[in-house]
Amino acid sequence: MISWRKHYKRGLIAIYVLLSTSASIYAQGDAKNGEKLFKANCVACHALDKQLVGPALGGIVDKVKKESNLDTSWLKKWIKDNKSLRESGDKDAIAIFEKFNKVEMLAFPNLTDKDIDDILEYTTNPPAAAPAADAATAPDTNSVAALEMAQKQSMNSKVILISLIAIGGLLLWLLLKLRQLVKLQQTEELAGLNASRAVSFGDLYRKYSYVGKGVLVVLGIFAAYGIWNWLMWVGVYKGYKPEQPIYFSHKIHAGENKIDCQLCHSSAKYGKVSEVPSLNVCMNCHKMIAEYNGKYIEPGKDKAFYDGEIQKIYSAVGWDPASQQYTGKTQPVEWTRIHNMPDFVYFNHAQHVVAGENAIITSYNKKNPEAKIDVVCKACHGQIDTMNVVQMANDFTMGWCIECHRTTEVDMTNGYNKEYFKNLHDKLKKQYGSGTKVTVAAIGGLECGKCHY
Ligand code: HEC
Ligand code: HEC
Ligand code: HEC
Ligand code: HEC
Ligand code: HEC
Ligand code: HEC
Repeated sequence: MISWRKHYKRGLIAIYVLLSTSASIYAQGDAKNGEKLFKANCVACHALDKQLVGPALGGIVDKVKKESNLDTSWLKKWIKDNKSLRESGDKDAIAIFEKFNKVEMLAFPNLTDKDIDDILEYTTNPPAAAPAADAATAPDTNSVAALEMAQKQSMNSKVILISLIAIGGLLLWLLLKLRQLVKLQQTEELAGLNASRAVSFGDLYRKYSYVGKGVLVVLGIFAAYGIWNWLMWVGVYKGYKPEQPIYFSHKIHAGENKIDCQLCHSSAKYGKVSEVPSLNVCMNCHKMIAEYNGKYIEPGKDKAFYDGEIQKIYSAVGWDPASQQYTGKTQPVEWTRIHNMPDFVYFNHAQHVVAGENAIITSYNKKNPEAKIDVVCKACHGQIDTMNVVQMANDFTMGWCIECHRTTEVDMTNGYNKEYFKNLHDKLKKQYGSGTKVTVAAIGGLECGKCHY
């Protein structure tokens, strides 16, 4: 589906370019190599068919020829170093710069004339039908479509699940109906009334019970499949890591760039939930960061891929990087929830992140001297700052909560606990002597009512 749409789009672009350039078909370079160079150097700001940071470049050779009577040697100068071209007083270069709100294009002094010929060939005659594998791995510069697609996929899983439940329900209903029917036909009055047809009833019963068993087997298979899917969906599995609509890497943000967890998950401190940040939080930084220039690149990904993912933020919030303005056209992003306790469980982040911070870090580092943590979050969520894709690091079951409450000593020095548990602490001291350790269990951390509504 995706690749079909891509081919279709590419086909259209190719036809458009062919039609509009019938006067002169620029054919001096190698479009394949041009495509590679374009993706490595230009996609952060340019697409063939629409304006991103810079103008659309499909058919650019003809366009500058027609509009300003400029040739490829001018384009080469521009692409290699547009700034010196402008500074040399070239009025066309200055005009383009003004037209695009004085957003500077990068200089590419390392590109040779041959490289640029290849790129221009690609912008003039993009290969119409790239092999499917290519399309699948190619960075998606059409970010709106990509975003829609990702969200559709997530919807699809929901639709599949709902339809499975529906099918299960329908089969159950059918089974009950069949049994009713069989029972009805077994009732004695009925049998008496229709004595003459008794034989055929027996036949019928045998036939129906056969069907009933068949239905049961099918139902069983569906139910097993449905339950398995449901478990995956709710995400009670350790290691659960769904695909997200934007490829957001914690390794790049929290790891490489050392951004504090609570800058994004700011409500962890205050409340019950710690929530995923809104896209406005992303824009605080990404208004300025339109492309990825980090040293770290995950195997299998490249700069162009990351740039495309950042573009998705812009599509989602309706930010036009060219004019540096919001367009008002937004496209909500729905992150898939990874951690999700059942409704009957009460878990409060603040209790753990604020009151429990010292206790949890100290206890964790005592138990894991070879893998100490610096941030309290990691005790439960694992080394998130090394994960490109978040995954559940623990199984988040009741046993897991209780195990930690049994073995973690409460920090009696923090203001909150000192006041609150003063009496309890004094009592324990009297009972067991002054070095007494107070675990979470001792302050009521194993009471059913503390964790269950
Ligand atoms: C950092 C963003 C950025 C990158 C990367 C970039 N460009 Fe540009 N480009 C622009 C902007 C912005 C303009 C519009 C002119 C201006 O504001 O300076 C532009 C203009 C152009 C123009 C002139 C278009 C016209 O209408 O006359 C050409 C040609 C061009 N770029 C080619 C390239 C090629 C080829 C590459 C890759 C080798 C590339 N650009 C990489 C931002 C970029
Ligand atoms: C720049 C913003 C940002 C920073 C910094 C950040 N996160 Fe996140 N976090 C996100 C976004 C966006 C998501 C949702 C997408 C995803 O799951 O990757 C998320 C998801 C999560 C989740 C899974 C939420 C769920 O659905 O259950 C956990 C747990 C988490 N982050 C913990 C952390 C920890 C721990 C740190 C610090 C080491 C951290 N985050 C730093 C933005 C951030
Ligand atoms: C505190 C600043 C900051 C915030 C907030 C922030 N980012 Fe980033 N983001 C960065 C930096 C720095 C980079 C790396 C840029 C580089 O190295 O060139 C980056 C890179 C990225 C990339 C490319 C690498 C990757 O992770 O795939 C994406 C996509 C991205 N950010 C998405 C987001 C989203 C979505 C949000 C909001 C949930 C967000 N960012 C919030 C600073 C931030
Ligand atoms: C004591 C273990 C523990 C610690 C410490 C902890 N979390 Fe969580 N976290 C959880 C549990 C349990 C959930 C699931 C809560 C739910 O579904 O109601 C969760 C869920 C989340 C979520 C998903 C959204 C939500 O609120 O349900 C995010 C994001 C998150 N944690 C981030 C953080 C960050 C950031 C920190 C550190 C500041 C942190 N957590 C510290 C156990 C912990
Ligand atoms: C890494 C260890 C750890 C894990 C895992 C953990 N907790 Fe806790 N929990 C603590 C600590 C430490 C405190 C005490 C905080 C304080 O000093 O008040 C606490 C306190 C609590 C309290 C308040 C108890 C009271 O008497 O005031 C509740 C409720 C609670 N946790 C629920 C949970 C639930 C539910 C889970 C599992 C989803 C969980 N905790 C997992 C360490 C943990
Ligand atoms: C420290 C927090 C905590 C305490 C204390 C606690 N529970 Fe739970 N309980 C949980 C969590 C978390 C789950 C959800 C586990 C899951 O989703 O896998 C749960 C699940 C359950 C379930 C559902 C079955 C299951 O295993 O998923 C029952 C029943 C239950 N608890 C009963 C109790 C009773 C009875 C007590 C008191 C003796 C108690 N709980 C004390 C945290 C706690």
